[in-house]
Amino acid sequence: MDFKEKDKKYIASTYARSNIEIVKGKGSTCYDSEGKEYIDFTSGIGVNSLGFANEGFAKAVYNQLLTMQHISNLYHNNVQIEVAEKLVKLAGMEKVFFANSGAEANECAIKAARKYAHIQKNKKKCIVTLNSSFHGRTITLLKANGQKSFHKYFNPFTPKIKNLEFNEEIFNLLPKDTGAIMAEIVQGEGGVNNLDAKLLKAVEEYCNKNDILFIVDEVQTGVGRCGSFLASQKLGLKPDIITLAKGLGGGLPVAACLFNKKTADVYAYGDHGTTFGGNPAVLSGVKYVLSNFEDSKFVDEINAKAKYIRDEISKFKNVEKLTGLGLMIGIKVKDKKGKDVRAACEKDGLLILTAKDNVRLLPPLNITYEEIDKGLQILKKNIEK
Ligand SMILES: Cc1ncc(COP(=O)(O)O)c(C=O)c1O
Repeated sequence: MDFKEKDKKYIASTYARSNIEIVKGKGSTCYDSEGKEYIDFTSGIGVNSLGFANEGFAKAVYNQLLTMQHISNLYHNNVQIEVAEKLVKLAGMEKVFFANSGAEANECAIKAARKYAHIQKNKKKCIVTLNSSFHGRTITLLKANGQKSFHKYFNPFTPKIKNLEFNEEIFNLLPKDTGAIMAEIVQGEGGVNNLDAKLLKAVEEYCNKNDILFIVDEVQTGVGRCGSFLASQKLGLKPDIITLAKGLGGGLPVAACLFNKKTADVYAYGDHGTTFGGNPAVLSGVKYVLSNFEDSKFVDEINAKAKYIRDEISKFKNVEKLTGLGLMIGIKVKDKKGKDVRAACEKDGLLILTAKDNVRLLPPLNITYEEIDKGLQILKKNIEK
């Protein structure tokens, strides 16, 4: 049996996989089981923020593995405390809960909003999310995803979750018992859609005036992806709760739910927990990823590379629209579906992503100009042909 047959036989069939098997990588270049080389513009869907096999990252995790790979959350844990302090300072927040995936971080945020309403005794238990959003795949989050395709099969869903269109009308349509509004800054899975910054600010102000929590899902946009530590910082937003995952762990499974002053003490003993969340081995990787942000040059470089890539792509024929922020890049290609561009690029040695019918690029944050140029050449050929 080859790898495709074995995959089909032993792994639940939830993914539409491409026909290649990636076995190793270095930086933003990787190789399949037949030795073919690919430039990686995907970073494992925004996860490998420092590319493949980063030595500093690997050593940091290895050293932690040799010291203490895990300790339960029944004990204080020096790595967790150190990373928590670094992370809340970088995010401009007060406290963090460590989880293991984007979905878990968002569940943590929604639970916190429900508990907040309980403390306020205001019965505002409804969570509003936006059309075209994506927040995860738990029974609660399937309904939170503002896309009909997620609302099949798995009902009944968690009650009191409502999806609304993101436009000026939203203020008139909010249910009376709205306790939280949750938004991405750039909708990733929904098509790399930039949300209007002024309207986001207006939503934040409305939330503050009406004792509604403003939750920003930065699972995909956060940790440098959009050219600042958080995309919400770039837009001057100050959410009550922010969720992170993907790029935070540089390839290790970790997530964070961050709380501001208003929400920092909503959770009390016993309200929430996880076995693996805040695991020291994984957090040693987070610590290494975050250490890059101590030097502002790291973010400057992300912005310089993002500008370079965007300028080049905007010169390609057939590019109808270029969206996203920083190194989160969406391309609407004239008369062509993203999946067809993706398949053609893969044949030529470039890995890209799609989002709805668009092309989506999420290269590692430290991709080199040489790798960018190699990748752009392949992308240009397949967008223009
Ligand atoms: C904005 C956003 N939120 C949440 C999630 C869910 O994260 P996970 O797959 O780690 O549960 C994703 C995943 O794509 C995402 O893009």
